[in-house]
Amino acid sequence: MGELIRVAAASDIPPGTAKIVQAKGEPVAIFNANGKFYALHNTCLHKGGPLGEGFVDEAACTVECPWHGWAYKLETGEKVDDASKKVRTYKVVKKGSDVFVEV
Ligand code: FES
Repeated sequence: MGELIRVAAASDIPPGTAKIVQAKGEPVAIFNANGKFYALHNTCLHKGGPLGEGFVDEAACTVECPWHGWAYKLETGEKVDDASKKVRTYKVVKKGSDVFVEV
């Protein structure tokens, strides 16, 4: 089991937004879709774009890479149109007003 690291205040990541954090030296993108938090490795599998700067589609629960538009499911990290490509996901826990990821 990994270690829970506090990475943000929940109020720093309102619904429909994301924030890039460092958790034990790993760049992790934390997303809020409809009040629920998700975490993916920040690095797009295509050419390394920063997923935490991408467009969060709350209805679809996906993020679109800001560089060339690859879209990933926030729940599983799978590329929307090709599940064989998958970015790492992390467990996210909200405790009180803080957000933690497990690394
Ligand atoms: S780097 Fe993400 S779509 Fe190209």
